[in-house]
Amino acid sequence: LERTFSIIKPDATARNLTGAVNAVIEKAGLRIVAQKRIQMTRAQAEEFYGVHRERPFFGELVDFMISAPVVVQVLEGDNAIARYREVMGATNPENAAEGTIRKLYAKSVGENSVHGSDAPETAKVEIAQFFAGNEIVG
Ligand code: GTP
Ligand code: MG
Repeated sequence: LERTFSIIKPDATARNLTGAVNAVIEKAGLRIVAQKRIQMTRAQAEEFYGVHRERPFFGELVDFMISAPVVVQVLEGDNAIARYREVMGATNPENAAEGTIRKLYAKSVGENSVHGSDAPETAKVEIAQFFAGNEIVG
C-alpha cells in the first residue's frame, strides 16, 4: 500500500464539489485516510509550490490557491501515487481523458480542481507539510 497527498483546490471547493471529487476518488479504489478543510496562507502556498517559484504563472498560482478554502487529503491504495495521477487526468483539462476529475470539473490549466503528488519523495514531504502522523488513520 502506498500513500499520496491530494488537494481539492479552490475552484472545486467554491463550486461545492468536494463530495463529487471524493466520489471519483473512492470509486477508483483509493481510500481517504486523512482529510481537512483549511484556508491556506500565502506562506504555505509559496512553500508548497516552491518548485514552481521561477515559472511565469507562480504569482497567479499562489493567489489562486489562497482565494478560497482547500481540502487537503491523504489517499491510500495500491500504487496510490500513479493511480491518483491517472484519476486526476492531465494538468490542462482540454487534454484530460474522459471520466477523470479534471475532465469532469476543471475550469482551466490553472484552476484545475485537484493536486496529486508526482513521486514518493514529494508525497512524503507534502503529507508532512499538512498532517501530523496521528491525523492519518488507515
Ligand atoms: P499539481 O498536481 O497541482 O502539481 O499539477 P500537475 O503536476 O499536473 O502540474 P504542474 O506540477 O506542472 O503544475 C502545478 C500547478 O500549477 C498546476 O496544477 C496548475 O494549477 C498550475 N499551472 C501549471 N501550468 C500553468 C499555467 O500555464 N498557467 C497557470 N495559471 N497555472 C498553471
Ligand atoms: Mg505537480
